[in-house]
Amino acid sequence: MTGHSTYTPKSGFARWLERRLPILGFIHESFVAYPVPKNLNYLWTFGAILSFMLVAQIVTGIVLAMHYTPETTLAFDSIEHIMRDVNWGWALRYAHANGASMFFLAVYIHIFRGMYYGSYKEPREVLWILGVVIFMLMMATGFLGYVLPWGQMSFWAATVITNLFTAIPYVGNSITTWLLGGYSVDNATLNRFFALHYLLPFVIVAIVGLHVWALHVTGQNNPTGVEVKDIEKETVPFTPYATLKDAVGLVVFVGLFAWLTFFVPNYTGHPDNYIEANPLVTPPHIVPEWYFLPFYAILRAIPNKLIGVIALFASILIVAALPWLDTSKVRSGVYRPAFKKFYWVFVFVAVGLGYLGAQPAEGVYLIAARILMAYYFLHFLVVLPLLGKYEQTLPEPRSIAASLGEAATPEEKPHA
Ligand code: HEM
Repeated sequence: MTGHSTYTPKSGFARWLERRLPILGFIHESFVAYPVPKNLNYLWTFGAILSFMLVAQIVTGIVLAMHYTPETTLAFDSIEHIMRDVNWGWALRYAHANGASMFFLAVYIHIFRGMYYGSYKEPREVLWILGVVIFMLMMATGFLGYVLPWGQMSFWAATVITNLFTAIPYVGNSITTWLLGGYSVDNATLNRFFALHYLLPFVIVAIVGLHVWALHVTGQNNPTGVEVKDIEKETVPFTPYATLKDAVGLVVFVGLFAWLTFFVPNYTGHPDNYIEANPLVTPPHIVPEWYFLPFYAILRAIPNKLIGVIALFASILIVAALPWLDTSKVRSGVYRPAFKKFYWVFVFVAVGLGYLGAQPAEGVYLIAARILMAYYFLHFLVVLPLLGKYEQTLPEPRSIAASLGEAATPEEKPHA
């Protein structure tokens, strides 16, 4: 959905540049004149919030890296040095650590928004798959970053997760040794994890570029799930409308972020990570950060390591297949009463798995994790395809204009 060019360079320099590199026109088309559906709600501000968080993580991360030492005997102390000696070091470190949590909170809301309104459906499949790639890169980056403070949880999380690769038949042990740069998590591991933790955010930036490009090709979905039919009536220019709405969402979000960072900075962390890594003492419970917990629950719900690892990866990859698993002709959950109910069951299951991932993998917790995991996969593989097949009597989705009470044609006028 691209409007025709409305950009006219105002200054002599802008005219000069535009003839050589039309970057100002490009920015204008993408972020000023770009038409957005009128009926977007605040859930559509999370893309902008995520973009902000990505930049915030990169900026705080680069300054932290100026004071951090990726060497096993110095890493833990260098973090304490940042916290105590570096000017504003404590704020930087807490902002970066809590920023990771806020980034994941935002991405989960962004993903569940897409799932509810069917934003993954044709023609936005590539946009969606790029999103899943970003999500996996975020998980890798979060995991690598958690190892850097070289606390007990850092060390043991790295040990547990890299150990998963040993489950690969025949070559698992060799791959794990290669990944670690030795036979256990050690200096070589810390060094390469630091290098990769620094690299991956820039790869994410590149994929976000493709993500937003794909978005600008298809145009945004909207709560009705009905494509824009009349650009004049059903859209508004991105600036000032979406820009301001994004700014309001961002201010509220940053308020929560600031509260976490300044008032309860260790709330999302694990106290054991304030104990320096000790390969000779295994903590009684090795728990990952909260944003990994649903996947951790799936991994541990299966007694066989290899199948557990396959289930873990499958639980993420299956999300990428959503455009083909959900066969409903109607896009938005707003007009799919049965889907809506199962959607909330799915949310409950995902949150429930998160809760169970933090509990010991035994007894009733384990049984519950197995049941929820079974539903997780059934939702994608059975519930959604069946809903698509049997949703015969769905209410007719209203166009954007009609849903706003601004009927595009007299027949479409809602009956008040
Ligand atoms: C760094 C992470 C990400 C950034 C910066 C980002 C950025 C954006 C932006 C700016 C938008 C447009 C505004 C909006 O609709 O909120 C958007 C839309 C979208 N994103 Fe993302 N995104 C990220 C991750 C993801 C992930 C993980 C997924 C899914 C797995 C995803 C799926 C989508 C979809 C489907 C849309 C179109 C929504 C619609 O128009 O209804 N994104 N993204």
